[in-house]
Amino acid sequence: MQWLIIYVQQQGNGEIQLVFSIEDNMFEKDLLKGKVALVTGGGTGIGFEMCKRFGSLGASICIIGRRENVLEKAVDELRKSGISAEYHRCDVRNPAEITESVDYFMQKFSHIDILVNNAAGNFVSPTENLSPHAVDAVLGIVLHGTLYMTLELGKRWISSGRHGVVLDIVTSYAWTGSGFVVPSAAAKAGVLATVRSLAVEWAKYGIRHVAIAPGPFPTEATRKNLFPLPEVEKLLTERVPMGRVGNMDEIANLASYLVSDQAGFINGEVVTIDGGEWLKGAGEFNNLLDLTGEQWKLIREISSKKS
Ligand code: HXC
Ligand code: NAP
Repeated sequence: MQWLIIYVQQQGNGEIQLVFSIEDNMFEKDLLKGKVALVTGGGTGIGFEMCKRFGSLGASICIIGRRENVLEKAVDELRKSGISAEYHRCDVRNPAEITESVDYFMQKFSHIDILVNNAAGNFVSPTENLSPHAVDAVLGIVLHGTLYMTLELGKRWISSGRHGVVLDIVTSYAWTGSGFVVPSAAAKAGVLATVRSLAVEWAKYGIRHVAIAPGPFPTEATRKNLFPLPEVEKLLTERVPMGRVGNMDEIANLASYLVSDQAGFINGEVVTIDGGEWLKGAGEFNNLLDLTGEQWKLIREISSKKS
């Protein structure tokens, strides 16, 4: 479905300007109307894309992260698109900062309905080169940060009787593991276990847990920390059977559906969005994808021969 969106923008000199934009959107415009979504690390990359999409579907947006200038710029852009948005500086490794941020958003919006644990830290490195501090940095953001955020919102939802949904962003190596990103793999595995555990334990409170496992969606951060060399990015893209990386609309739409009431019976599930990447990478025989028709014929002949 294509929408013509008209934004009303106020310029620095007070002048009002109308901005016209045609946007693709697969949902009814008010899918998330009345909801308030808190997105950790929502100032950049995939987090920011989710904020824009949730906001365009009627949600109010709260974002946290460590860099105030990044948060300010993101909120400014959201507001210019007519989205109600607030930010608070917060390191998710610090529970006191989390409480302060959630108090701030509650004061602004009076409720929060959706929590997206998206903030992450990661880098590629031979594991034998890691220091304990490097391990702690990644586990602290991804595993502890996710649990601290979930506890903060979960306790408030439970004591107030309000329903909520938690969407955690993991990755397919949460269940396959992967060399060269071991702290991230360990942390994401822990997050996935949390999703599946709380899906059962907290369902009685009306709290749903869901997760998305993205394949490669190049962002500024992945280019810097994970595919710093073009040849590495090429190698990673070639692993995707569909022969391309993901585009942001695809993940933003999936996230919007999962956090919406339309997905109300999805609980404890992780949805992979990777063009088939992990199946190809993890399957022992997947490299046979490169065999020619002649080679397959030969294999058939040999394997069909009676011994
Ligand atoms: C080895 C490294 C390192 C590297 C940092 N360290 N980078 N060790 N190789 N490339 C070590 C440091 O030397 C230090 O240890 C310790 O890690 C902590 O580093 P700090 O810079 O002090 O930490 P901090 O400021 O907390 O930053 C955390 C960070 C950083 C994780 C290191 O990269 C970060 O802030 N990242 C946020 C953005 C990000 O990573 N986004 C990517 C998400 S993508 P010592 O012992 O020297 O003190 C993702 C998707 C995966 O997760 C799937 C892709 C397909
Ligand atoms: P990104 O742009 O680096 O997003 C991470 C965000 O987290 C940043 O805004 C960062 O802001 C914030 N953050 C990091 N540490 C934090 C902390 N301690 N406290 C609060 N905020 C913190 O990376 P991305 O590529 O969009 O990744 C988003 C999510 O998708 C992550 O969970 C990642 O693991 C997952 N993922 C991404 C890909 C991909 O290909 N992009 C693939 C699989 C999974 P500050 O630095 O300002 O704090």
